[in-house]
Amino acid sequence: MSHEIVEKNVGLLAILIVIVISFGGLAEIVPLYFVKDTTEPVEGLKPYTALQLEGRDIYIREACNACHSQMIRPFRAETERYGHYSVAGEFVYDHPFLWGSKRTGPDLARVGGRYSDEWHVAHLTNPRDVVPESNMPAFHWLADAKLDGKNTAAKMKALRAVGVPYTDEDIAGAADAVKGKTEMQALIAYLQNLGTAVSSR
Ligand code: HEC
Repeated sequence: MSHEIVEKNVGLLAILIVIVISFGGLAEIVPLYFVKDTTEPVEGLKPYTALQLEGRDIYIREACNACHSQMIRPFRAETERYGHYSVAGEFVYDHPFLWGSKRTGPDLARVGGRYSDEWHVAHLTNPRDVVPESNMPAFHWLADAKLDGKNTAAKMKALRAVGVPYTDEDIAGAADAVKGKTEMQALIAYLQNLGTAVSSR
């Protein structure tokens, strides 16, 4: 009888479906806020320096994350190629995280330290110079674009508001730390730091 009421009343059915799905969602999502593995940084994880932070923003602006994931899954084929699988505690200072799933190019979660800075300059200037079969676009203009550091401190303050432990000195020195550096330098500083908190091999 009561089932019939629900079946014949689309509005009520929709509301009840939403309630049921919310419970499922809550049961999966809420515990993550309290599990240490997902909320505590891995040992040795440092907030991005001012320069790395600017580099990360350039990475997002140039949509590097449209072709590169930053999430190594716990499968042998992945760990053999990229190193230790990604763990949640590596990403607690990432707002937003850049895990992604689209891999036109390789995963970059542990690219930090894999190549020299000079290799990255050559690769970003013209990928074909170092990887002949590459179809990655060139980003040579990054070497000519200079950072002015105007917004760096404000960005760090915003991140501090959501829990990234920047000190007052970090924020006070932010503009000077990036001023006059090129976007290429900032991007490479970011890349060289990726995944280095967890030893990769
Ligand atoms: C259209 C897709 C595409 C975009 C956009 C792209 N890449 Fe790539 N990337 C690739 C491909 C394909 C490769 C593999 C060939 C090579 O090494 O050039 C690659 C390789 C790389 C590598 C070497 C990784 C390794 O482990 O060997 C790095 C580092 C890299 N990309 C960084 C970047 C950065 C930084 C940006 C943004 C400025 C970017 N990519 C944008 C497709 C892309």
